[in-house]
Amino acid sequence: MNHQFIYSNQLYNFQRFSEREDFNKNLKNCMLSLFKWDNLSVLEAGVGMGRVTDYYFDKVKHVTLTDESKIMLEYCRSKYSTEKDKVSCCLCSHSELPKMFQAKRFDIFVSAYSLSYECIKRKGNKLQDYINNLFSLANRFVIIENTGVFCSDDSYIQPYAEYFNILSSHLTKIEIQTDFRFKSTEEAVYYCGLFFGETIASKIKQMDINVVPETTCIWYNG
Ligand SMILES: C[S@@+](CC[C@H](N)C(=O)[O-])C[C@H]1O[C@@H](n2cnc3c(N)ncnc32)[C@H](O)[C@@H]1O
Repeated sequence: MNHQFIYSNQLYNFQRFSEREDFNKNLKNCMLSLFKWDNLSVLEAGVGMGRVTDYYFDKVKHVTLTDESKIMLEYCRSKYSTEKDKVSCCLCSHSELPKMFQAKRFDIFVSAYSLSYECIKRKGNKLQDYINNLFSLANRFVIIENTGVFCSDDSYIQPYAEYFNILSSHLTKIEIQTDFRFKSTEEAVYYCGLFFGETIASKIKQMDINVVPETTCIWYNG
């Protein structure tokens, strides 16, 4: 699966897929209940189309949005164009975040379904140092990652285990369901095939379902 190709070239496919995620709105409810967001400054990394941004946008004072995909960032720039004073958009890879924002300290750092792409590239001290540098950018953290589709077992999270363990050693972890509800089995097979691969797509087809269970973890402090 080439997610980066989709994020850089297939806005429509990503939009459809993410619109179907978390149909019960568990993520929004959980995020807003973590602490009071009122009047705070937020750095959101890997913003995509600003789905998660929309959850807290009205409450906060200022948001800085980053993504390495030009089309995602352009989408957000246009979506929030009437709120120019409140939003800064910055084309920036996660690898550049510590350097790019070292002179600032945000109230909250948010990243949803995105930092894992960067963290999986690092191991041992390099991973620990990278996360420590991110921790210097803000007072509070809300880091959200998918930890299972159909399951929440070790085999699914194994490639990310070191990253998740570091998060758990610094932050509190909450596990929620963010299940997808597609319009039909065919739609579920198509989009889950694109994002999660053929094994999961075949399972959906075989089970003839349009609701696909997904487990999400939220690591936070404050
Ligand atoms: C699954 S989407 C999540 C988007 C949004 N946070 C949401 O929850 O809907 C992942 C996003 O992270 C961005 N991304 C992936 N790897 C990145 C990296 N190394 N640096 C910056 N952005 C990255 C992609 O371009 C994409 O917009």
